[in-house]
Amino acid sequence: MADLRTRFAGIASPNPFWLASAPPTDKEYNVVRAFKAGWGGAVWKTLGEDPPIVNTASRYGTLEVGGMRMVGFNNIELITDRPLEVNLREIAQVKRAWPDRALIISLMVPCEEESWKQILKRVEATGADGVELNFGCPHGMSERGMGSAVGQVPDYVEMVTRWCKAHSRMPVLVKLTPNITSILGPARAAKRGGADGVSLINTLNSVIGVDLDQMAPMPTVAGKGTHGGYCGPAVKPIALHMVAEIARDPECAGLPISGIGGIATWRDAAEFLALGASTVQVCTAAMHYGFKIADDLVDGLGNWMDEKGYADLGGLVARAVPNVTDWQHLDLNYKTVARIDQDLCIKCGLCHIACEDTSHQAVAQHKNGAGRRYEVIDQECVGCNLCMHACPVTGCISMVEIETGLPTVTWKEHPNNPMRRA
Ligand SMILES: Cc1cc2nc3c(=O)[nH]c(=O)nc-3n(C[C@H](O)[C@H](O)[C@H](O)COP(=O)(O)O)c2cc1C
Repeated sequence: MADLRTRFAGIASPNPFWLASAPPTDKEYNVVRAFKAGWGGAVWKTLGEDPPIVNTASRYGTLEVGGMRMVGFNNIELITDRPLEVNLREIAQVKRAWPDRALIISLMVPCEEESWKQILKRVEATGADGVELNFGCPHGMSERGMGSAVGQVPDYVEMVTRWCKAHSRMPVLVKLTPNITSILGPARAAKRGGADGVSLINTLNSVIGVDLDQMAPMPTVAGKGTHGGYCGPAVKPIALHMVAEIARDPECAGLPISGIGGIATWRDAAEFLALGASTVQVCTAAMHYGFKIADDLVDGLGNWMDEKGYADLGGLVARAVPNVTDWQHLDLNYKTVARIDQDLCIKCGLCHIACEDTSHQAVAQHKNGAGRRYEVIDQECVGCNLCMHACPVTGCISMVEIETGLPTVTWKEHPNNPMRRA
């Protein structure tokens, strides 16, 4: 099978699958079970200063879509609520027992140089492979001037990263918050501060729902609620976009990326790798299905890489990045139209309704005798894909390329563009 070994910012792991900093990595018991199940690494649940924080009950909420549980997941949990000493002792034990796995320690302390210096010294003594600076948690800690309150200000990101590089020999990863207009500000700041890599995304500000009996946002705590951090499959598109933006940014060139956000299958992971991540981290999927999914992730990615002829991750990582571009560079003369496979069509009419009511009236409905038939009107079809996505039968509607004989034309060159270059 393809070689899945990874070296990320100098940190080695037998495969690119790490558990993200969260409840699955909050204690030795969990991390040992995860390593036994085959995870290549773990980012220990964020450590802070003593006395430990206090968590609420309840603290999780979920979004269910069409019967699928936990499509989106929301939490108002804070960093670890266990004493620092206990965590550090367990980290040292785990690293000694599992020297080949990546063990990275997530950290969050007040924005003071001395606080970072002190905790870095203690983490270094455990033998851990590196640290990840948690500039992401959007709730609870941010109100105390930590987490996303730091991550949203590039100057603070750069300053704290610089302190950590100055006071530690360990690789420093910076975990970024998606609660920002452009991810490039904090990513570039991390690089300027000397970060050895970035990991993203942490959770997004969210209210997952409202309890209409208690009239309070969920999850509720004694009848009240607050915004939490959103993650799970629903956030994957946001994470992929942010990873790609960093991967193609000349100022971030060479900065290793650990991709996080909604990864549940090997295919999700392959997409993050193709867009520039060289390791991936998983939280919600492990909380939903348990540590055993590592088998499917590792085997699935390895088998697919064999099929595609990728001998190791080097050939796959960032492979799709050259094809990520800005809208203005797309070929406006490229044309596709929809095709309906009449043998697969179940005559539900959704393609017709969607196109008729909201798009281009390009799917004709023919009634012949007792039956119905749907056909695409090529001259009206703009190739938008709506019918294909609305169709409940996989493979029934596909998009086919139409040869127009026209040359490639981008918006920059298009005659409709008043600013076009001659
Ligand atoms: C219950 C819960 C607790 C979390 N705690 C932390 C934390 O302590 N530190 C941290 O950096 N991220 C924390 N996260 C964020 C995850 O590490 C991860 O960035 C996020 O969940 C996105 O990944 P996912 O979609 O695979 O869950 C937490 C997430 C959840 C769901």
